[in-house]
Amino acid sequence: MPDPRDFNAYWMPFTANAQFKSVPRLFASAAGVYYTTDDGRQVLDAASGLWCTNAGHCHPKIVEAIRTAAGELDYAPSFQAGHPRAFALADRVADMLPGTLDHVFFTNSGSEAVESALKIALAYHRRNDEASRTRLIGRVRGYHGTNFGGISVGGLVNNRKDYTPLLPGVDHLPDMLNISENAFTKGQPEQGVDLADVLEEMVALHGGETIAAVVVEPVIGSGGVVIPPLGYNERLREITREHGILLIFDEVINAFGRCGGPTAAEVFNLEPDLICIAKGLTNGSVPMGAVGVQRDIYERFVTGEDIGIEFFHGYTYSGHPLAAAAGEAAMDVFMEDGLIAESQSLISYFEEAVHGLKGCANVIDIRNFGLMAGVELAPCEDGVGKRGFEAFLKAYENGVFFRVSGDVFQLSPPLICDRHHIDTMMEVLGEAINATV
Ligand SMILES: Cc1ncc(COP(=O)(O)O)c(C=O)c1O
Repeated sequence: MPDPRDFNAYWMPFTANAQFKSVPRLFASAAGVYYTTDDGRQVLDAASGLWCTNAGHCHPKIVEAIRTAAGELDYAPSFQAGHPRAFALADRVADMLPGTLDHVFFTNSGSEAVESALKIALAYHRRNDEASRTRLIGRVRGYHGTNFGGISVGGLVNNRKDYTPLLPGVDHLPDMLNISENAFTKGQPEQGVDLADVLEEMVALHGGETIAAVVVEPVIGSGGVVIPPLGYNERLREITREHGILLIFDEVINAFGRCGGPTAAEVFNLEPDLICIAKGLTNGSVPMGAVGVQRDIYERFVTGEDIGIEFFHGYTYSGHPLAAAAGEAAMDVFMEDGLIAESQSLISYFEEAVHGLKGCANVIDIRNFGLMAGVELAPCEDGVGKRGFEAFLKAYENGVFFRVSGDVFQLSPPLICDRHHIDTMMEVLGEAINATV
């Protein structure tokens, strides 16, 4: 095990560095649903890493695939050359995506998938002689990664405020969260489909012919687990289609079983024009993201005629051999071995279990969809996030790792969990919340 000199050199992302470095939380190894800490404790992972190790940690098939690939081909250029695994993985991903979303552009992260999707949308409209379509519409509370396009369409103030002016010509759909009317709803709230109609108002205000794309997470993850009202996603699809606006589903969290199917699009029975995936794509094992692209969009770029490079965009590590090998093995586990299908039987148990936390101290809302849930605490007087963080530390001491953002616990148990693991998560979380004043 490497022994860091101290914890000073590494500037940690999205972390309270000073707090962490005073009491570091270090994982030395992991297997299945457990981490082992550097001091030998077993910690149950209620967050699937960071919404990514859906098939559990160090899945033997994925580990083996990476080991083999590492000795075979370390790297191949992704521009004007390739390697078979990237093409094979693209086929597998295309087969998994709904309908005619059958082309795949590889990236190295979810953030890059979002940037790539936004660029594809803008360039597509130009190729259709609709260069006036430059506006991008996101949504309040949306999280689309941390690059400039993503934070511009994103709707989380802390991720935006230090980096203004961001991209021009961006607007945001209103917040879907309505605790006063929908608190403790199981699954999708009945109220609120009209929030999607605000897109019609934006079309009226800006002119539909100026809007390139609407980008949303079908079910909001990092922004606090916010579940779309019944009919909401469907309405967005209708309005975008009516006005020639591309609909981008950011499924970086939602795909690979999190919402109860291979994609949320499939669960909602919808086909977006572009779909962003990452995280579960390699089960978190090697960084990789991708954009799934509708056939007619791809064919506006790649027409069959040799015009040279059709899309001036890409990354040194697009479709990297190790990531592609990990991705193929993950697809085996999720699809061929049936993990996504099997995990559906856990959803109703998880729903009942998480709603069992109603009545714990300061819990003001519980929201759930598939195998994701948000448990929201009222902020304490010392400021937003203090109460949540204190409860997170208590739960960690008691052997369960949760993801908390602000005062919202964001649960995303591994798909391989059994009921006993779910019970342990709820017991430890309930105790931690009740012990936090
Ligand atoms: C919906 C969504 N989009 C994009 C991203 C960014 O992904 P990455 O951190 O891999 O850049 C995330 C990360 O959590 C996400 O949840």
